[in-house]
Amino acid sequence: VCIRQATMEDLLSMQTCNLMCLPENYQMKYYFYHILSWPQLLYVAEDYNKKIVGYVLAKMDEESTECHGHITSLAVLRTHRKLGLATKLMTAAQKAMHEVFGAEYVSLHVRKSNRAAFHLYTHTLGYKINDIEAKYYADGEDAYDMRKQFKVKS
Ligand code: ACO
Repeated sequence: VCIRQATMEDLLSMQTCNLMCLPENYQMKYYFYHILSWPQLLYVAEDYNKKIVGYVLAKMDEESTECHGHITSLAVLRTHRKLGLATKLMTAAQKAMHEVFGAEYVSLHVRKSNRAAFHLYTHTLGYKINDIEAKYYADGEDAYDMRKQFKVKS
């Protein structure tokens, strides 16, 4: 399995992977918006048969005063979990946010009940809980608003 920057041709496979893995889904135009605005922030995991088995979809937040990145969505197909793919996808997107766009930190939302993702963010990647957003999700579940600060460039 290899990790590489996503291309336009990957967007449908990314959407398929998202539909299989998460209840938060997006129209194709939202994927286009990401890749046209921040092409360096979309990565896919591709297996030896050229099948897309994971993705990260990320963006820069342009509204806030502090320059920061945001992870819109991350997923790895069930058949390919616990191989370190999500860690690699996240690391690639985080590096580009910092180095290409000068982000000071990266943020994301995760369901309180999502133990696998919470473990990945806190233990593996070093995110901290910044806030709790009550009833953030359509079904009424709360979200952890999480952040990871990047090291100051010298
Ligand atoms: N329970 C406990 N810990 C877990 C689990 C689990 N089910 N799955 C992974 N982990 C741990 C791993 O052991 C590893 O820990 P380590 O670094 O201490 O060894 C760490 O999390 C990272 O594991 P990876 O192999 O890199 O993660 P993986 O490729 O399996 O993907 C993911 C994790 C993305 C959460 C996957 O389970 C998935 O796609 N889930 C469904 C979709 C989802 O929840 N996406 C995130 C939503 S939040 C958002 O999109 C911003």
